[in-house]
Amino acid sequence: MSEPRAVHLSDYQPFTHIVRDVALTFRLAPRATRVSATLRLAPNPARPGHHDLRLDGENLRLLSLRLDGQPLDLTPDATGLTIPAALLPSAPFTLHTEVEISPETNTALEGLYMSRGMYCTQCEAEGFRKITFYPDRPDVMAPFRVRIESDLPVLLSNGNPAGQGAGWAEWVDPWPKPAYLFALVAGDLVAHSAPFTTASGRAVALNIWVRPGDQDRCAYAMDSLIRSMRWDETAYGREYDLDVFNIVAVDDFNMGAMENKGLNIFNSKFVLASPETATDDDFARIEAIIAHEYFHNWTGNRITCRDWFQLCLKEGLTVFRDQQFSGDMRSHAVKRIEDVLLLRARQFREDGGPLAHPVRPDSYVEINNFYTATVYEKGAEVIGMLKRLVGDDGYARALDLYFTRHDGDAATIEDWLAVFQDATGRDLTQFKRWYTEAGTPRVKVWEDWDGETYTLTFEQENPPTPGQPEKGAKVIPVALGLLNPNGDEVLPTTVLELTETRQSFRFPAAARPVPSILRGFSAPVILDREVSPEERAFLLAHDTDPFNRWEAGRALAKDLLARMVTDGASPGPDWLDAVARVTFDDTLDPAFRALALRLPGEDDMAATLHGAGITPDPARIWSERRRMAEALARHLGPRLPALIDALAEPGPFTPDARAAGRRALRIAALSLMSRLDGGRAAATAYRAANNMTEEVGALVCLLENGLGQEELRLFETRWSADRNVMDKWFALQIAHAHPDQAVATTDRLTRHPAFDWKNPNRFRSVIGALSANHAGFHHASGGGYRLVADWLLRLDPLNPQTAARMSTAFETWPRYDADRRALVAAELARMAATPGLSRDLGEMVGRMRG
Ligand code: PHE
Ligand code: ZN
Repeated sequence: MSEPRAVHLSDYQPFTHIVRDVALTFRLAPRATRVSATLRLAPNPARPGHHDLRLDGENLRLLSLRLDGQPLDLTPDATGLTIPAALLPSAPFTLHTEVEISPETNTALEGLYMSRGMYCTQCEAEGFRKITFYPDRPDVMAPFRVRIESDLPVLLSNGNPAGQGAGWAEWVDPWPKPAYLFALVAGDLVAHSAPFTTASGRAVALNIWVRPGDQDRCAYAMDSLIRSMRWDETAYGREYDLDVFNIVAVDDFNMGAMENKGLNIFNSKFVLASPETATDDDFARIEAIIAHEYFHNWTGNRITCRDWFQLCLKEGLTVFRDQQFSGDMRSHAVKRIEDVLLLRARQFREDGGPLAHPVRPDSYVEINNFYTATVYEKGAEVIGMLKRLVGDDGYARALDLYFTRHDGDAATIEDWLAVFQDATGRDLTQFKRWYTEAGTPRVKVWEDWDGETYTLTFEQENPPTPGQPEKGAKVIPVALGLLNPNGDEVLPTTVLELTETRQSFRFPAAARPVPSILRGFSAPVILDREVSPEERAFLLAHDTDPFNRWEAGRALAKDLLARMVTDGASPGPDWLDAVARVTFDDTLDPAFRALALRLPGEDDMAATLHGAGITPDPARIWSERRRMAEALARHLGPRLPALIDALAEPGPFTPDARAAGRRALRIAALSLMSRLDGGRAAATAYRAANNMTEEVGALVCLLENGLGQEELRLFETRWSADRNVMDKWFALQIAHAHPDQAVATTDRLTRHPAFDWKNPNRFRSVIGALSANHAGFHHASGGGYRLVADWLLRLDPLNPQTAARMSTAFETWPRYDADRRALVAAELARMAATPGLSRDLGEMVGRMRG
């Protein structure tokens, strides 16, 4: 086999031909589905000359090939089919192909595959080539007509229905689209339906298709969809553009969900919810993902990407939009804190390791490996910075221009930045570095006050990343506020623009102010500033910016935990009293208080220590973090029972943000209580729970203290028939296992009869849960590394995409001590040396080895 080759942005050329329209007929059969395709093609004026026609195609058995009705005798190669220029007319022509494929044996879950008796597709990024011969690239857009023949009762594809009868259905999608947005579903499904009327009066039939029996778990997803559709009309002026909008829930899915035009396909865990089976986090994620996929209808589908290097064009923007939506639906402050927690946990981790890449990468081997936190979450942060720099009005004008100028286009980041430049007059040449340069900038801050003037000096450092040893200064918007020592705000939020490596800003000040820097986390950077615990406690008590208020508490906790780990310090009153004040402050949102009670994560701590030049010891971080929780529990202990009682929700469960915040705080309090009472309160709460949030919350409290075996049995008995709930059962006991037991627990659960490792959700809830158990995965024995590598190698031949994604468990190896680094290096070498390793996993392992 030849070495997989990298694709480079600089090699982009428009396709040789244009596709005027596509007609597909599917005759579905598990091992012998016939796909016939009629493509009307013409030479592309953007590529002058007379060119071969190259069609992508993989694992297709070619049955017939005709050009303008005449049979052609050509043989495909492993990746496609070339029709030599000599055989092609210079005028428009019609190409007809018929192929046979085998959905039932398609374990990669890409292309057309089967999931428990139903047919479904996943085409992004390059799955359509596993369905038929086609120019499988996003800048080739065409209207599709689809006919499905099957005895299954529900037959769906993109666009509007165009007729159906016994054993067949036809669909027409009038909107030109790239092949990656194609979708087909066939199965024994039932719909949860609702009507929707758009702002201009178009009637839309909304359907969520699920297996019989699941239809009573669709109400929240439907409600989220309706709110998303309405929100996009008011916030962005974007209406839906077809007569139907279908969503299908699928149990076997590599990712979260997919925005296929008019036919979104979802991992069932992001659709199905009832109070008994879904936690508050599940409800929030369903709302966000339903919105995300819906918002893609404009940002992704109507305006798509020219090539896959531009992936952030649709993903960064759509994440930004779904974050705005969730903030509007819930609380902006809480949403921002949660988003930053996630950004730091996933994207900073990626940006600081061997897998770092720019928001817009310039080369890849396997594009599926670039659906990353950097493209998605940092891509959204970059848009947030743009919005801050040009203001809300400038942003609105730029977006209006984007939609009018590029509707129907396959666009680039250059196009995106041009609409901002044209709508606002702002030069974005330097800003563009955020798209082209990897790495998290570090910003150092010094302050000076001379009795009259207060001076803040910033210095930015842009660290080297793979392939990018040196980089220039970035445009960094720093939202700043200044407080008086009495807590009054003397400078309301003001955006400073850093554009140079070192820069100072001066403010008149009769008294020395306390600065609140990087309010709302106005840029994805690491702020380096020596701050006393007193000042942090002051900001936690007085900052008017809720994000920085939380940030002050978090920094206080991280400073303390770092000192506990490095020189055996103990929690003192500065931290304990500050947390107590927030915990019991009834004027604050309970969701905010719950976040303030959350201790720094172990992986976060390891990254921070590493950043400070200290080699993190996972076992020690684990035990010191525990000691920290115990100290806090003792400090708050006497007041916890009253808090737990006061937060009990009377009446039936509602999934709204207010109720969810109260439950979150109640469970945080219960978790501390469980460190004091031997798990009594949690065991009681477990048995009293009437919703999954409290059931899981109480179970975790027990597991964290080495308890809960009886409750695990009760849980398993009650939920053994529910896959999505059983995923939680697997994941929780591994993620919360004692570090010395995590590997053995995982290994034992891989032998459980319900460990269906070919199902991505189940694989993630077992193998992924081990890599989420920081001290367990990084156990000095190396057992965690070995077990994860074993399972990745087992999954890789069947499902390379999921194996490759999960290999990021190893991306942090450079942080750790020489022994651990050697253990990881051996596992990476073992994987690299495995014959037949996929291009997906091969690329990831290669990049991690450096
Ligand atoms: N485009 C999908 C989304 O972000 C993600 C996805 C990528 C799903 C690739 C499947 C395969 O909404
Ligand atoms: Zn997306």
